[in-house]
This record gives sequence, C-alpha cells and structure tokens, in this order.
Amino acid sequence: MEKFFLFLLRLSPKIKRTLWRWWYQNLVKSYPQFNWQFMNYGFCDLNSELGNLNLSQEDEPNRYFIQLYYYLARATDLEDKIVLEVGSGRGGGAAYIADYLNPQKIIGIDFSQENIKLARQTYEQTNLSFQLGDAEALPFNSDSFDVVLNLESSHCYGSMTKFVQEVYRVLKPGGIFSWADFRSVEELESLKQIFKQSKFELIQNTNITPQVVKALLLVNQRKQHFIDRYVPGFLKTAFEEFAAVEDSEMYQSFRTGKNVYLNYVFRK
Ligand SMILES: C[S@@+](CC[C@H](N)C(=O)[O-])C[C@H]1O[C@@H](n2cnc3c(N)ncnc32)[C@H](O)[C@@H]1O
Repeated sequence: MEKFFLFLLRLSPKIKRTLWRWWYQNLVKSYPQFNWQFMNYGFCDLNSELGNLNLSQEDEPNRYFIQLYYYLARATDLEDKIVLEVGSGRGGGAAYIADYLNPQKIIGIDFSQENIKLARQTYEQTNLSFQLGDAEALPFNSDSFDVVLNLESSHCYGSMTKFVQEVYRVLKPGGIFSWADFRSVEELESLKQIFKQSKFELIQNTNITPQVVKALLLVNQRKQHFIDRYVPGFLKTAFEEFAAVEDSEMYQSFRTGKNVYLNYVFRK
C-alpha cells in the first residue's frame, strides 16, 4: 500500500498535497487523543547545545519533540514577538512556545481543519490561536510577523518555492524564518537552489540528523507500543514508516545518509 502511496506522491504536486491533507485529516479522526500533541521526529541534545531545558512534569513525556521546537525557536529571542507557525499540526509546539518563550502572540496555521479543531479544543492560552491556512498561500497581510517557524511540514508541500516566497512576504523587514525538515539527498540540490534564489539572507544551516536519529531511538518503544495497540494490521507498515520506528526504511534512511534532517535560519 505504501509503495502505491509513494508512487502517487511523485505524480504531481497537487496529488501530493491532496494525499497529505487526506492523511492528516484522517489521523485526527481515527486518533483524536488529546495527549498526542506532537508529530515531529524529536531532537536529542548530544553536546549540551540546549542547556538544561526545564519542563513541567506534564510536558516531560514530550521532551524530545519539544527540544526540536526549542532548537528551531532559539534562532532568535521570541519574547514579545509576533510569531507564525506554519504546519502547526496538533498544536503542541505552538502551545509550548506560547507558555515558555513569552511571545506577544503566536498563531499556528495548518491546512487540516481537523488538526485546527483539535488544537483549539486542547489549548487555550491567551497569546495562542490556531487557524486554517495553506503554506503556499498564507492568509495574512504582508509584513505581519517578526518570526516564522516551520517544523517537519514542508515535505508535504506542492511548491517549496511558493512557500518560501509567502514566508518572505508575511515577515516584517529584519524578520526571522527558522525552518527544519528532512529531505532525501537527491532533493538537496534543488532545495539549496530554492533558498539561494529567495531574497532571504542565510544566517545558519545545520545538519541535525544525528540528534534526530538519537531522539527517534529514545521514543521508539512508546511509538511502537501505540502502533501495536491502536493501528489495524493492514496499516501497520505505513504507520511504522510515518513514525520512523527502528528498522523502518525511513529510520534506516537517516542512519545511512539517504535522508538528512536540516535546520536553516534566514533573515528578511
Ligand atoms: C509531521 S506534521 C508536523 C506538525 C508539527 N509541526 C509538529 O511538529 O508536531 C506536518 C504538518 O504539516 C501540515 N501541512 C502539510 N501541508 C500543509 C500545507 N500546505 N499548509 C499548511 N499545513 C500543512 C499537516 O497537516 C501536518 O499537521
């Protein structure tokens, strides 16, 4: 089934977008658990880069997913800033930022209505809101945000070029764009060209694959347990790939270097 899925993904940007939307919509319908708040692969601090990230008891189980958000967000000080997260998923990351990093406000957008509904039901901080929106046509005026964050979402987009142009448009002059996601090595050259041809100034780019692989290992048991317990047999392999559990092709592709996980930070 997942081979057919991969085949369709390669067919056209429109089909790719439609299939991803269908996937995320159905994920919420099938698994509406409020305690599943993150959908990224996580980050394990290998060289004490993050310092001692203090988390509440309640947030501790999500430490590795939160650490990836913290890694992305620490590109700049978010205190009193107006922040946009594109592809906010089930809302855990934007809620973490609203609680711990004191932005004036953070808006999470996602193209899955179900994700937005779930995030709104789960969180209610005053400096946090969620709205439906497409990364390739951001529903905001130009020069609206100090910071745009984008975590493990852009591999679903039909056009990365359009997305990068949209981020540039909605950022205020001097605003920061912090991006992280995975790509296959074959896709790297075209990604670099898209970033190079944008009007952004590159501040830093880092390969964080080792930190992500370590986090994947550390959360492996928990994910596998969830899949064994809740996912029907015919969907198990697709879920194992999606979650990149140990021994999945996805996990192995990070280990062998076929896929890399990157963070880029830009200034407008
Ligand atoms: C792997 S999840 C990551 C979610 C969240 N960033 C996290 O780390 O938990 C990818 C998210 O991107 C969203 N997404 C994919 N394509 C999108 C698009 N074109 N516009 C907005 N959101 C999109 C999906 O609905 C999904 O919630």
